[in-house]
Amino acid sequence: MAGAINPFQDSLRFDRRVPPAAIVIFGANGDLTKRKLIPSLYRLAFERRMPSGFVIYGNSRTPISDEDFREKMKESVRQFLEDSPFDDALWDEFAKAIFYLPGDLKDPVFYQTLASRLNAHEASTGGNILFYLSTQPSHYEPVVNGLASVGLAEGKGWRRVVVEKPFGYDLATARELNHRLQAAFPEKEIYRIDHYLGKETVQNILAFRFANGIFEPLWNRRYVNHVQITAAESIGVEGRGAYYQTSGALRDMIQNHLLQVMGTIAMEPAAVFEPNAVRDERAKLLRSVRVHNEEDVPANAVAGQYGPGRVGATNIPGFRQEPGVDPASPTDTYAAVTFFIDNWRWAGVPFYIRSGKRLPKRVTDIAIHFNAAPLSIFDRDNHNGYTMRPNLLIIRIQPEEGISLRFLSKNPGAGMKLRPVSMDFNYGSSFGVRTPTAYETLLLDAMAGDATLYTRQDMVEASWQVVQPILDYWGSRKFNFPNYDAGSWGPAESDDMLARRGHVWRVP
Ligand code: BG6
Repeated sequence: MAGAINPFQDSLRFDRRVPPAAIVIFGANGDLTKRKLIPSLYRLAFERRMPSGFVIYGNSRTPISDEDFREKMKESVRQFLEDSPFDDALWDEFAKAIFYLPGDLKDPVFYQTLASRLNAHEASTGGNILFYLSTQPSHYEPVVNGLASVGLAEGKGWRRVVVEKPFGYDLATARELNHRLQAAFPEKEIYRIDHYLGKETVQNILAFRFANGIFEPLWNRRYVNHVQITAAESIGVEGRGAYYQTSGALRDMIQNHLLQVMGTIAMEPAAVFEPNAVRDERAKLLRSVRVHNEEDVPANAVAGQYGPGRVGATNIPGFRQEPGVDPASPTDTYAAVTFFIDNWRWAGVPFYIRSGKRLPKRVTDIAIHFNAAPLSIFDRDNHNGYTMRPNLLIIRIQPEEGISLRFLSKNPGAGMKLRPVSMDFNYGSSFGVRTPTAYETLLLDAMAGDATLYTRQDMVEASWQVVQPILDYWGSRKFNFPNYDAGSWGPAESDDMLARRGHVWRVP
């Protein structure tokens, strides 16, 4: 494709300079490749955002031809392309740049073959290579070592490695993994992906906070009473039971995605909008999160596991009845934690985070609960339940992306009756354009060399540090699971955790 007019790039719409590159996906047979990676790359091509001269290599052990791999990917793109049309002519052009190289990741010969194949594309890629680790974590080390052993970790052009979660199983294994990655690639070329940071609505938190003057003065312990972060899913483990039972909600969602979201909500403004300046602030925030002592864990963390129940009109089996799951599994499919940020801005403000599978609906949002007005001058004797309702700012991450501010208003008619009302901003109706998916944003950023939305070693370790005592405590006790029904909002202990501080989970 080098030299020819690039059908994938439109210089007028191209506001991010992405140089040509090869993208190598390890784990090309897996779910992520077919659901997210290839559909996102195709979508970038559709948007004319792919660099000229790109090539994509897929690897897994299955010995199939380039043609068969392209056919499989075509089916996946058709199936998983969210809200975008499929263009056959564009696909045919795009597919010419896709190749498949089967091979065993433990075999040194495989890396030699890969190196010679990639070198053959150097004229069009300029030697730039993005390696994407989407395999089982046990392969991360052999892959980075294999790449380094044949000189692929450095060379003409840039060499970057994108690493999928999980980054370790606990603090010790995360440190070990960081150490192994850094033995092969310099830290600045290691891109640890956390797809929540790539979501438009999460990125917008920075714009909302730091491009507007009116919210920041309120964004502290004087005005904020507490914060609730909810990531609810109605789905179960969707055939990932075997993986999920070694992980659980705390590891799968809170340790990474939701602590990063909390970091974005609570961090200090960066001096400049530049990758390390932003990441320094997020890292500093994560280091300020209080690490609970073991004796404080029971009051500040709740584990749950769903039993059989109903979601909508469907009967749902319990987690322990899911395929691949141990019938006595102690894994948490729900976790709720109270965090405190020990700095001057947030001292004493609880940040409640919860996440669970098989909850009544899919919704992720952040609710900032402000302090109530100091005194109600309306309706003093007749508390109609609304007179003291505090203001609430809701940042809706998904599925209905937007921001709402709740306040009290006078009910029309005689007398001074109050009612909560809401001022709403909706992405869809305000901009009327499709928002890119997180993987589109993050893949483009990695090719452009912008790590702002990627996590760093210190952030990963800081977030393991705060969940580690909870994992240790949970690992040492026996839970009476299941303790919530599929289709409900989680275990009663979670409500009790908030009630101890006079708070109630908002129903999103
Ligand atoms: C993944 C978790 O990282 O995030 C899954 O492993 C979870 O268990 C998913 O379902 C949620 O992502 P999203 O973008 O659908 O909210």
